[in-house]
Parts: sequence; C-alpha cells; structure tokens
Amino acid sequence: MNSPCETAPLLEKSPTQTFLKDVLEGLSAHPKKLSSKYFYDKNGDHLFQQIMAMPEYYLTKCELDIFKNKTQELADSIDYSTPFDLIELGAGDAMKSSFLLEHLCNLDCDFNYMPIDISGNILSVLKENLTEKIPALNIIPLEGDYFDMLDEATKLSERRKVVLFLGGNIGNMSKDEAVNFCTELRKRFSPGDLLLTGFDLKKNPHTILAAYNDGAGITAAFNLNLLARMNRELNADFILTNFEHYQTYDPTSGACRSFLVSRFDQTVHIGNHTVGFKENELIDMEISQKFSLEDIQNMAKKSWFRIVDEIKDSKGWFVDSIWTV
Ligand code: AVJ
Repeated sequence: MNSPCETAPLLEKSPTQTFLKDVLEGLSAHPKKLSSKYFYDKNGDHLFQQIMAMPEYYLTKCELDIFKNKTQELADSIDYSTPFDLIELGAGDAMKSSFLLEHLCNLDCDFNYMPIDISGNILSVLKENLTEKIPALNIIPLEGDYFDMLDEATKLSERRKVVLFLGGNIGNMSKDEAVNFCTELRKRFSPGDLLLTGFDLKKNPHTILAAYNDGAGITAAFNLNLLARMNRELNADFILTNFEHYQTYDPTSGACRSFLVSRFDQTVHIGNHTVGFKENELIDMEISQKFSLEDIQNMAKKSWFRIVDEIKDSKGWFVDSIWTV
C-alpha cells in the first residue's frame, strides 16, 4: 500500500527551494562547500564583468583573441560547407561567439544559432543585440538546463550539431565531474557532430594566481557576494566582514581554488536553520581547473571523444579544442 505521501502529486521545487537545499547540503559537508554556479545573480554578473575588465584576468581576452583573429580557422574546423546547428551552452551575451556567427553568415553558411542559457533575461538581451548586429542570423534561444535544452534542440532539428562550451567554464568542475559531463554530452552526439570547448592552459603559476587574487579585492567581493545573496534570497544573516577570501593555485594538479575563511567562531542563521563556523574553518567556494594539452587529450579519451583540432590564442595561454565522436 502506498502511503498518502507517496501518492501525492510531485511538486516541482522552486529555484529558491533548490538553492536552499544545495546550500544546506554544502554547509553540512566536511569541509563546508558552496557551488560557484550560484555566484551569478545580478550583483554577481556585474562583479564578473568587473573581473573580466581587470588587467590580471587574461582568460576572456585570450579567447576573444581566438574568436576575433582566428575566425577562419574556427570556421574550417567546424566544416562550414555542410548545414549544421550551432548550439552554445551558457551563451550569456554571446560576445565572443558573435565574431564567429558574423563570419559564418558572411560565408553564406546554412546554420541556425541555438543559444542555451538558464537566464531568460540574458537570452532576450542576446537576441536583441545579435538581431541588430547580424540581421541574417537565424536565432532559436533555448532557456533552461544544458542537457534538457540539448534534447530539445535535437527534437527541433535533424541537422548535425556543433556545440560550443566556451570561457573555460569546464574548469569550474573537478576533473571527474568534467569527464562525467563530457560523457553525458557524448551520449547525445551522433557521427558528424562536433564539440568546441575552451580550456585555460597551465602556465606560469604567478600569472594564474594573480588572475584570481587581485589586489583590488574584486574576486574577494565576487566570492563574498554569494553570502550576501543568501542573506537576500534565503533570509540568512551572514556578516560579510567576518569572512576572508583565500586563493590557492597548485601548479602540479592545475587546481586554482578559492575559499572563504571564518575569521573566528561564529553562528549564522539561514531561514530557520543554524550553521556554526569554527575560527579558520573553510568554505570551499570554487575550482578553476587549468589543463595541459595532455590533460585535455586524456579527458577526451575518457569520455569517448577524439580531438580533431586545437586553436590557441597568440600567447598560447588558452585553447579551443574541437572534438568529434
Ligand atoms: C567564468 C568560470 C571562466 O573560473 O575563471 C573568475 C569564473 N572565478 N574569477 C573562472 C571566475 C573567479 C571564471 N569562469
């Protein structure tokens, strides 16, 4: 016999309920952990814009260099002469990809652009900007989760897929999570489909650490904003000055990690939940994994892809790696 509870209709969790659940789960783990995917509320978006404008933060500039100056190489690598759909995971405002999109339109390519993002707001901004900049472009925005929307894209069109995953976003997953993610993508790929992923490469460790440990404290504010966001959205009472940002880079593993450190013993409330912090207790906030070309090769292999092309920026600091099945 089913209990009344089991027969009750399944209610979908609201975004706030999911946020709360993830936060409580993370803060009861050892060490305490929060997910960097929650960095990007309106304030977080704004702080990330400031990070991209910092002289130390080279990632965006490097990948922009590729999209601006190696556009024909990118077009060649995705075999632009036969029809396809260009699907971008986490498209945001499509600032980098717009250079490739414009070039493909100028080449008279037969393709649809399907940007996927969880922010409906950013997608409408994208559509407005791109329609003005590239009137010939056929845009089909898809709002939601990456894999759900990829399935949706496959239902909407039978053409071969070229999937873009830019910005080094894959670095925000641990190596195992990244392999799982790529394996999930692989399941949705057919022969002829391509994946283009941006990877930040291992380089001088000072250069990497400086990009995440700026003197002006913008990265610190970016991390602390997640505490402020919990105050705003989850009725929490974090005192931001009671926590300090701490950044590490391990050149052997390539893991660049950020932490918040509790300055002393303290108790914080999140709604009607209570969380205790010991002096110097850590919250693991974010990983930004750096890769060697060999690391990328191993990752492709483990998730059953094959590398067909690699396009680096002029400094050789960042690579867009093109994979096939
Ligand atoms: C947006 C994931 C590429 O990890 O470099 C920037 C986010 N975090 N500074 C990165 C970030 C701290 C960024 N990505």
